[in-house]
Amino acid sequence: MSGLEAPSIALVGAGAMGGALVRGWIEAVRKGGGLSLTVVEPNFDAALESELETVGGVVNPSGGGPVDVLVLAVKPQAFVAVAAEAKRFVGENTRILSVMAGVPMEALARELGGQRVIRAMPNMPAKIGRGVTAYVASPACTAQDRELVEQLLEPLGTVEPIAAERLMDVVTAVSGSGPAYVFLLAEVLAAAAETEGLDRETAMRLASATVAGAGALMLETGEAPGALRKQVTSPGGTTEAALDVLGAGDGLGPLLRKAVSAAAQRSRDLGKR
Ligand SMILES: NC(=O)c1ccc[n+]([C@@H]2O[C@H](COP(=O)([O-])OP(=O)(O)OC[C@H]3O[C@@H](n4cnc5c(N)ncnc54)[C@H](OP(=O)(O)O)[C@@H]3O)[C@@H](O)[C@H]2O)c1
Repeated sequence: MSGLEAPSIALVGAGAMGGALVRGWIEAVRKGGGLSLTVVEPNFDAALESELETVGGVVNPSGGGPVDVLVLAVKPQAFVAVAAEAKRFVGENTRILSVMAGVPMEALARELGGQRVIRAMPNMPAKIGRGVTAYVASPACTAQDRELVEQLLEPLGTVEPIAAERLMDVVTAVSGSGPAYVFLLAEVLAAAAETEGLDRETAMRLASATVAGAGALMLETGEAPGALRKQVTSPGGTTEAALDVLGAGDGLGPLLRKAVSAAAQRSRDLGKR
């Protein structure tokens, strides 16, 4: 891994997100990446624990001092209590990487006593390594810190640096909450198919496979969504008839703009509490 010879990592919380990270890091060590891993998790998966031990990892140590990177992946509401315990992993040079939704960098620095803070926002497909994680780093972080953190987040999917923390509310509204919008699209498409005469199960299978297949195609070809949409739209054809409705002044565009704006505002409001 970048820069540091074999960075020491302490992960606190190995549920859905933390578990996906550990699996990826174990794989990285097996491929020759130097990483020294410690995991703190009351209900650690036994099979994962054995795998971790095969790469020299440690689970729930009673002691432990400063590490190169402390990663926090507990629920946000557990943060303050967890911070008191996790502080032992923080020293002068520790980078603090959080994937907790809505916990500001200022709170991370204050509760953990470090300045090199990185706040990241993954999304649900990270559970299968197909997520997108946006992150913002505090001014005290070096270019090497950012490189290291990007490598550590890779098991969750692609990684996107964000220029300013205030934009994390927008990230939350777009990629954080976004998977729910796509699931809703599959649901309403299935409901429309049912209205047009298909039985419920077939409608749901067709709609789900369509959403999944379109997403996979976008990912695999790397083509812009607009270009793919044009490929499937012949002049005067059936797709065009539907897109005329969806693209109208009161169509999908303004509706999603309203939805994303509501989510971003909720994120800002929650951040003020
Ligand atoms: N899942 C998502 O799609 C998603 C998306 C974006 C951001 N996030 C953020 O990622 C973070 C983790 O989410 P998740 O879905 O991975 O949650 P999760 O599956 O509940 O994982 C959290 C883990 O932390 C453990 N834990 C609780 N207290 C602890 C302590 N004192 N020390 C060590 N471990 C402790 C929990 O154990 P118990 O089960 O025993 O409490 C659980 O295994 C959250 O802050 C969330 O905001 C998640």
